[in-house]
Amino acid sequence: MSAGAQAPKGTFDVLPADARARDRLERVVRGAFERAGYGRIETPAFEETELFERGVGEATDVVEKEMFTFEDRGGRSVSLRPEGTAPVCRAYVEHGMHKLAQPVKLFYWGPFFRYEAPQAGRYRQFHQFGAEAIGSDEPLVDAEVIMLFEEIIGELGVPGVTLRLSSLGSPELRAAYREELVSYLRSHESRLAGDVRERIDANPMRAFDSKDEGTREVMAGAPRLLERLDGDDAEHFDAVRGLLDSNGVSYEIDDTLVRGLDYYTRTVFELDCSQLGAQSQIGGGGRYDRLVEQLGGPATPAAGWAAGIERILLAMGADSEVSPEPRDAFVAATSDEQRRRALALVAELRNAGLSAEFDLGARGLKGQLKQADRIGARATVILEEDGSAQLRDMESGEQRAVEPGQLIEELGRNRS
Ligand code: HAM
Repeated sequence: MSAGAQAPKGTFDVLPADARARDRLERVVRGAFERAGYGRIETPAFEETELFERGVGEATDVVEKEMFTFEDRGGRSVSLRPEGTAPVCRAYVEHGMHKLAQPVKLFYWGPFFRYEAPQAGRYRQFHQFGAEAIGSDEPLVDAEVIMLFEEIIGELGVPGVTLRLSSLGSPELRAAYREELVSYLRSHESRLAGDVRERIDANPMRAFDSKDEGTREVMAGAPRLLERLDGDDAEHFDAVRGLLDSNGVSYEIDDTLVRGLDYYTRTVFELDCSQLGAQSQIGGGGRYDRLVEQLGGPATPAAGWAAGIERILLAMGADSEVSPEPRDAFVAATSDEQRRRALALVAELRNAGLSAEFDLGARGLKGQLKQADRIGARATVILEEDGSAQLRDMESGEQRAVEPGQLIEELGRNRS
């Protein structure tokens, strides 16, 4: 195919048949958020690069390697958003949302961009929906956001989903733990994989993700952050667990859970789906109690999550397929004059709230009836040369004369 005639690498087109599944997903997601009092927020598809450097963290893969960053014509460095939490917190600060009743509960839905190696379930433009509850450090908030996520996954019927949960404590605890982990890794350096060794200082937690045999053996004996959790952090985590337990939410504690973004504090979690291959994570999130302050706002604790729309649809497989809605009417006409009448009639029917199509392909009557079947029309209106009309029930094949003035009523009745 010639250059420019293919979607860019790692991107895809959503065709009408795919769009129906996405629309259904959106309806379920929106319904759940609305029932829970979350308001929709939209932020720009690109932001100043510095927002992500400061918010997500300069040493993260997302910021260091995966952002689409460019200079605009005014010489500013901007980046296509790789995630939504930093932009939502930027908007919270910019619009003084700390003055509203707290926590401010927001949800979003839209495209995100990461320059990753494309594979099944991993794209360079993908879509997320997400929730952010900003302005409370209550464990109730952690539990509510997690339960909301579970509710959506349950309502959609995504199979084989497990929730992994952990706590990262405070940044201070994490810094102390990090030093401990670095010296542990240094003392076992010879048994570690090359890429892990190279990143001991930059990102020691990543060693827990390594697939290398030697590294895995070393990591089995490594100190765990969760064991170091104390004081308010430990209390918070116990409270979150207690709330999930008492609401029958099942989860696994994963003390090696490391999220790829730097802003997390305390609770972190991920949802995996066993139906998916390497890219099994359908969503993740946690608490980020310092982010708003880091972006120039008042000290404001918060929690949230985001889910990958394409991964959820992949996980649902054929279950995500949605048939098109049946049409109320197809209008058939066999001469130019009657086709003009058909155009006026479909407009009238649509104005009355009915769904109607007519022949735009100059087919014969037989072809038009086939087309009516194909689009799932309940009835076909056949316009006759003498100005009269026939109404054909597409299920029974029954056909009878109908007064054109009665059509809206007749077709409406057909619906129920
Ligand atoms: P994240 O884990 O980086 O978290 O992304 C959330 C979800 O987006 C992933 O679990 C995955 O399903 C989907 N996703 C990520 N990258 C790709 C990709 N290249 N292709 C397809 N799907 C992808 C965040 O983004 C945080 N902002 C979540 C959050 C909200 N934390 C607190 N509040």
